[in-house]
Amino acid sequence: MKKMVVLTGAGMSAESGIKTFRDANGLWEGHDVMDVATLDAFKRNPQLVLEFYNQRRRQLLQVVPNKGHKNLKTLEKYYEVHIITQNVDDLHERAGSSKIIHLHGELRKVRSTKNENYVLDWSKDLNLGDVDKDGNQLRPHIVWFGEHVPEMEKAIELTKKADLLVIIGSSMQVYPAAGLVNYSSKNTPIYVIDPVPPIAKNYDVTFIKSKAQEGTERLIKMLTD
Ligand code: APR
Repeated sequence: MKKMVVLTGAGMSAESGIKTFRDANGLWEGHDVMDVATLDAFKRNPQLVLEFYNQRRRQLLQVVPNKGHKNLKTLEKYYEVHIITQNVDDLHERAGSSKIIHLHGELRKVRSTKNENYVLDWSKDLNLGDVDKDGNQLRPHIVWFGEHVPEMEKAIELTKKADLLVIIGSSMQVYPAAGLVNYSSKNTPIYVIDPVPPIAKNYDVTFIKSKAQEGTERLIKMLTD
């Protein structure tokens, strides 16, 4: 089976009702990302950061995967599909996709502030005073701006081996994720599904100028007709 690597961003989950980041003048749910999505912000005002992610987690529990997520699961009938997502939601998992890498962490997990390998499943609010087995404060299992991206090496290796690369709903502005496209081989066809296609045209790119749900329908038709 051919390997399809799918890089997804916030636009993938927009039709499930989760806002993208660059919707409102760079504000994310009313906050400057630097006030809620950096380690410094967490040190400065842990309460605010925890509450911000608690709200995101509560919202996540109320939304469901959209047809786009489900279409990526359907594509597993035809391809070995590897999803590399920048999203911290679990909508690909809930749609049934089997091979998923979360570059920027996962909202429904938390980890120790002292040991990044101490990770717990977590679906309720996270508060000051919630600690690991050694008494260290827990934090969201999120890769904040400026932090290293532990899954990047794996994502690069997958992208190098891709027979087909699909990019859905990402502004391709946030590195290192945005740089992944440079690792695909010169002959690998790239499909971009986005109402506002972001990527430079010097690749072999097929633009599908649609939202994720309709765009993935069109992709399946193009690849299976
Ligand atoms: N379907 C497909 N694409 C959509 C849809 C939709 N329904 N709605 C919006 N888009 C597109 C936009 O045109 C834009 O290109 O999704 C993209 C969203 O871009 P961003 O909000 O920048 O999201 P993303 O690229 O995932 O951001 C990357 O930035 O804030 C950080 O860590 C956070 O993972 C995130 C990273």
